[in-house]
Amino acid sequence: MTDKKAQLSVGNKVIELPVYSGSIGPDVIDIRSLAQEGLFTFDPGFMSTASCESKITYIDGANGVLLHRGYPIEQLVENSDFIEVCYLLLHGELPSPEENEKFHDTVKSHTMVQDQIRHFFKGFRRDAHPMAIMCGVVGALSAFYHDNLDFSDERQREIAAFRLIAKIPTLAAMCYKYTLGQPFINPRNDLSYAENFLHMMFATPCEEYKVSPVLARAMDQIFILHADHGQNASTATVRLAGSSQANPFACIASGIAALWGPSHGGANEAVLCMLQEIGDESRIDEYLAKARDKNDPFRLMGFGHRVYKNFDPRAKILRQTCHEVLQELGLQDDPMFRVAQRLEQIALEDQYFIERKLYPNVDFYSGIILKAIGIPLPMLTVIFAVSRTIGWVAHWHEMISESFRIGRPRQLYTGLTMRNHPDTD
Ligand code: ACO
Repeated sequence: MTDKKAQLSVGNKVIELPVYSGSIGPDVIDIRSLAQEGLFTFDPGFMSTASCESKITYIDGANGVLLHRGYPIEQLVENSDFIEVCYLLLHGELPSPEENEKFHDTVKSHTMVQDQIRHFFKGFRRDAHPMAIMCGVVGALSAFYHDNLDFSDERQREIAAFRLIAKIPTLAAMCYKYTLGQPFINPRNDLSYAENFLHMMFATPCEEYKVSPVLARAMDQIFILHADHGQNASTATVRLAGSSQANPFACIASGIAALWGPSHGGANEAVLCMLQEIGDESRIDEYLAKARDKNDPFRLMGFGHRVYKNFDPRAKILRQTCHEVLQELGLQDDPMFRVAQRLEQIALEDQYFIERKLYPNVDFYSGIILKAIGIPLPMLTVIFAVSRTIGWVAHWHEMISESFRIGRPRQLYTGLTMRNHPDTD
């Protein structure tokens, strides 16, 4: 914080507003006192508004930097597994070896879900979208775990965090099995978080699933790379829901609902739909021409990013992993993956994309990897939700641990002014 001030003149009046500096990043003007002057600011998409203070994640879009608690994402992917990153996001520091082991063990001790939840699934149609089921079952967790709903008790918050991180992959895999009509597969606590998720997705009671280390590592990387991304639609939703003192399971369910939207969590699904639509390398030029055409709404899915304007550091990591996964599975010559690789190559050399700094983003590669692993399209956003749960939990925890007020955005009212009901004399 500094003693810098900004001045705002409205008519004849000059209002002084404090300016704060974060540890890095642009300064912010504190406009909270404006309401006392009878003024509000107008910023519908939060394009210029910080909705909270946070110490968890820093993003520098111009330079392709993503830091969690100060650590570059590249270093975390290289040196930590997802559960260690969960610890970091939640506690602010990397764990000691003892803390790390204890944290892993505690997460494992919560992987099963209450047996009654199995029956809850049966209320859904088999063809329901798994995100619809996820919104329902995660929200319903508060009906099953009454013992840790007091948000003001730090120990209860901790247990809720463990339950959410541990049970989310179990519930996600149950959604998949339910839509297939296959029995649910119990978690195996001798496996890592990523291995266990793949096991619950692909094993059956008659056949074990042998988890390939290459695929397990790719899955773990996808979890790490989607774990948190500062403020965004779903995280802001979780914070807003939490500000009303709603219980943690309800807050995370609200985040899942916000993530479901195609402008947020649905991008990697859109990449695969586009690749399927292109279908063959011979049609790439046609689609590139559509992407360049101002009169055509078509956009090359998986290219460009609202924040990262030079490169997406997460995409850089997953690009390499994507090649390893395709090689491991012998899919280099699969027609859809050939389209993906050719498209990436051509777009990177194309003037239109170079001038506009449109590079493949994380969703381009995560979509391809997940498809290669055998994850069906509707499950892609569910996997995003599994990864992002720790980010939501960390932000919810950060907010609750500090003094907070219920979020109450203002509005610019443009409706009718007061008038009389026609039956009023
Ligand atoms: N294909 C073709 N042209 C594009 C693309 C694209 N994928 N993305 C941007 N452009 C063009 C725009 O038409 C515009 O051209 P112009 O200057 O000639 O008018 C220019 O690039 C700038 O585009 P904006 O829409 O202003 O860029 P913005 O930062 O607002 O958009 C976005 C970012 C929404 C991600 C966009 O690049 C896009 O739609 N990409 C495809 C969808 C996608 O992959 N989304 C997931 C990204 S991950 C995330 O944001 C959560």
